Amino acid sequence: MPPLQLGHLTVDTPVVLAPMAGITNTAFRRLCREYGGGLYVAEMVTSRALVERTPESMRLIKHDDDEKVRSIQLYGVDPVTVGAAVRMLVEEDRADHIDLNFGCPVPKVTRRGGGSALPWKTDLFTAIVNAAVREAGKARGGAGIPLTIKMRKGIDEDHLTYLEAGRIARDAGVAAVALHGRTANQYYSGTADWDAIARLREALPDVPVLGNGDIWSAEDAVRMVRATGVDGVVVGRGCQGRPWLFGDLQAAFEGSDRRFRPGVDVVAATFRRHAELLVENYGEEPKALRDIRKHVAWYFKGYPVGGDLRARLAQVETLAGLDELLGELDLTMPYPGDAAEGPRGRAGSPKRTALPDRWLESRELNEEQRATIAAAELDVSGG
Ligand SMILES: Cc1cc2nc3c(=O)[nH]c(=O)nc-3n(C[C@H](O)[C@H](O)[C@H](O)COP(=O)(O)O)c2cc1C
Repeated sequence: MPPLQLGHLTVDTPVVLAPMAGITNTAFRRLCREYGGGLYVAEMVTSRALVERTPESMRLIKHDDDEKVRSIQLYGVDPVTVGAAVRMLVEEDRADHIDLNFGCPVPKVTRRGGGSALPWKTDLFTAIVNAAVREAGKARGGAGIPLTIKMRKGIDEDHLTYLEAGRIARDAGVAAVALHGRTANQYYSGTADWDAIARLREALPDVPVLGNGDIWSAEDAVRMVRATGVDGVVVGRGCQGRPWLFGDLQAAFEGSDRRFRPGVDVVAATFRRHAELLVENYGEEPKALRDIRKHVAWYFKGYPVGGDLRARLAQVETLAGLDELLGELDLTMPYPGDAAEGPRGRAGSPKRTALPDRWLESRELNEEQRATIAAAELDVSGG
């Protein structure tokens, strides 16, 4: 695979770590990039909180010194606020790449017209993307930093927006468009529609298109590229509990069969290190250890680790306690094969997307919706 070109940025391995709220913090990004090349996007941050410099938003945009490409994802519903957030990142030299989130299906976001509900309103979508691209273009003395968007297919099969949104974004001057091949209604259920990704690739010959959804292995990534012709892949849940997937992806895109097949000793050591890096990220042990608990099932998926030990790991409170529990593992357990592979993380079932009143009646905002939108950025986190 050739490198991915995002504006002036060359990403040698055309792989993107999908932004995941609560997951893709400095700790996890470090583990992932140690295995392979790619672009590693931070957890999304809301434009409003960023402009207000809340302590949490400043933590979310923090990068380690050795992160050569500081990639940040913004969520926003108001062109002025999104523009101001991009301007702040540019003026203070805090980012080398900015992505905009138009894919979030969480009810508290879509109910107010944000995330995956937003591209339906073409006037608002156009204004936000234009504002962001304009501000990103002022970086580096006018050379600009790449601004990309990430979206879903639409709200449901009767209200698809991706082709039109892709064209609007291309016309605004984005550096790439990423498509998660699901509608908002699908949430994380079913399978991602790679045909839609292929259609978008075909519809936008003049801008890089990135494919997202259901890449669980390097082989899946190669399959997606072959099936759709995308310029790069975006990987989310597939790397949860297995940052070495980025090593597999790099190998596969370089044409090598080398794959990481860790025994439980490597899994345990990586899990331990993840916890340690989270302590650095949060600056405190209790919060870090609460956070690592959600990774237990992902790291040990398919490994014969007893339910009782898993349950205790999922309640761990200190690094010392973690060491004690990991000490109970039989470190000679080898890689278990298929049981460690396949889908992981969020799934769930389809649900009707919560939307503001009469949202689907028109492609443009009415006055009442404009007011709803104004309140939409206040308490959002998560994707
Ligand atoms: C826990 C979690 C958090 C997520 N947070 C975000 C987010 O902040 N921004 C975003 O654009 N997508 C977010 N997503 C969606 C992913 O970026 C990705 O589009 C989706 O998981 C599909 O890719 P996958 O099949 O490789 O997981 C999140 C997904 C998960 C599972």
